[in-house]
Amino acid sequence: MNITVFELEDWERQAFEELGQDHEVELLSNPLSAKNATEYADTQAISTFLYSRLDRQVLEQLPRLKLIATRSTGVDHIDLDYCEQHDVVVSNVPTYGDNTVAEHVFALLLTLSHRMDQAIDRTRKGDFSPRGLQGFDLEGKTFGVIGTGNIGRHTIRIARGFGMEVIAYDVQPDSEAAAELEFTYVALDELLRRADVISLHVPSTPKTRHLLSHEQFEQMKPCAIILNTSRGDIINSQALVRALAEGRVCGAGLDVLPEEPVIREEAELLRSVYQRTHNLESLLADHVLIRLRNVVVTPHSAFNTREAVSRILETTVDNIQSYIRGGGRSVNNQVGASR
Ligand code: NAI
Repeated sequence: MNITVFELEDWERQAFEELGQDHEVELLSNPLSAKNATEYADTQAISTFLYSRLDRQVLEQLPRLKLIATRSTGVDHIDLDYCEQHDVVVSNVPTYGDNTVAEHVFALLLTLSHRMDQAIDRTRKGDFSPRGLQGFDLEGKTFGVIGTGNIGRHTIRIARGFGMEVIAYDVQPDSEAAAELEFTYVALDELLRRADVISLHVPSTPKTRHLLSHEQFEQMKPCAIILNTSRGDIINSQALVRALAEGRVCGAGLDVLPEEPVIREEAELLRSVYQRTHNLESLLADHVLIRLRNVVVTPHSAFNTREAVSRILETTVDNIQSYIRGGGRSVNNQVGASR
């Protein structure tokens, strides 16, 4: 089988090299894009991370493609309809990092609640004054979780450990989890009204796009804290900038931004300004958010611990091998055989 691995980091190399014993494997550090896709017209299986946008324009240039093994949980960067129509199996890594991402959620929250970034900045400059660094307690506050899947449930466990009351909203409530972890399901409106801290754990889909926008920010308790480790487009970032300016939201911890792939590469950014292929208003809002003192942004790194990345690689290589062994049948499929 002809396998091409994109966006490869050096430390991922070894995991894929073993596939090279029986297959033709090409390991590349660049993403796959509409501009370079014709170079890989012969490939039958690809593995990518999040910065290869696998839309129709790219996929149409890969006529022999049979398998996409994404090294992520989210599959919103892949045109699943195209894959369904063209018998391309899509496998993901469903559960590598529920604890890992949930731990990052609290890293963001504690950074805000104890003003850790500003405190550390200050001592590094030799300034030991605590003035202006007052934070807030988590104990006794209400933690609102939107999406109680694998990651959402893990954040609930941690929140309970901090002595927070937890309320949650999900389109598919899990009453057993609610009883076991001691939290209560409420309607979205009620969650917005009651929560001191709101944490997002839903996938990016047409239904969740801008789930938090002007109307939702207006319903929130004054001085709410927003945490997003899910996907950038779930929040309307212009609405968030306004809610921060009005003091309705007092802080935000964001691991994801809507125009994040563009922000990653300043050169790409400039190109996009000229080509106007991106939403410039939302890009501008991202840049404002990154610079606000009461917003902390991490570069989509919630998954990135030693343990989680080794689980990601193991599952991805397993996904490819099980597809090959099963003659087209695979595991962890979002689209295709044995879904
Ligand atoms: P999951 O599939 O276990 O849970 C998602 C939950 O969202 C489900 O309970 C589902 O019923 C609920 N949901 C779906 N649509 C909804 C809607 N419209 N309204 C309310 N609830 C809805 O997913 P998991 O593993 O918890 O991951 C959540 C997301 O976290 C992923 O889709 C991915 O985008 C993101 N993620 C981010 C990472 C990072 O490094 N920042 C790493 C891993 C995942």
